[in-house]
Amino acid sequence: MTQDEMKKAAGWAALDYVTKGSIVGVGTGSTVNHFIDALATRKEEIKGAVSSSVASTQRLEAIGIPVFDANEVSALDIYVDGADEINPDFDMIKGGGAALTREKIVAAIAKKFICIVDNTKEVDVLGAFPLPVEVIPMARSFIGRELVKLGGDPVYREGVITDNGNIILDVHNLKITDAKDLESKINALPGVVTVGLFAQRGADVLLVGSPDGVKTVTK
Ligand code: 5RP
Repeated sequence: MTQDEMKKAAGWAALDYVTKGSIVGVGTGSTVNHFIDALATRKEEIKGAVSSSVASTQRLEAIGIPVFDANEVSALDIYVDGADEINPDFDMIKGGGAALTREKIVAAIAKKFICIVDNTKEVDVLGAFPLPVEVIPMARSFIGRELVKLGGDPVYREGVITDNGNIILDVHNLKITDAKDLESKINALPGVVTVGLFAQRGADVLLVGSPDGVKTVTK
């Protein structure tokens, strides 16, 4: 089974959590693209979606699912998104697709975060995947120096501007043992828009695609 087939299995499994008449929070990435394909089969039953990126908005609209502005919606039952890494506490690294800030906003509005991954994303300790940090461009060098003080090796993601007009620094060589604490420390640096650690608001349900099927883990 390929990695993409495992992503597809997890994406389609998330359809079971979609309820009639609801507005669904939709993340970003290749696993979520499978979820969007699945959602298309039930598009008549839902009111629409709140999207976490321009890319997901375009995909949702192309298949005829109305996309609401996050400001029009006071609560979402579910938010479905992928992750770059997830640990046994359901803390995640996200932002491989540079959509971390909007992902964090939509996740915060939702009652339940359903994380869809293939089994390569499960780790004991976060940090092998470089931690994305969205930064206001004028703060790039300052934040880079601060991230070195925190023990990481930041690398500017060449050629990437986020949907919010900012840049991404990917922090290599971190071994993240206290994800909540590191999330607070990096978020507190002036010029950081969002760090791609999702620990203070982690996942609630984990759907893992593997050659043996989809494993469901609930907190
Ligand atoms: C985008 C993300 C994605 O959820 C993450 O990068 C996983 O992507 P994929 O499903 O393509 O493996 O955080 O910013």
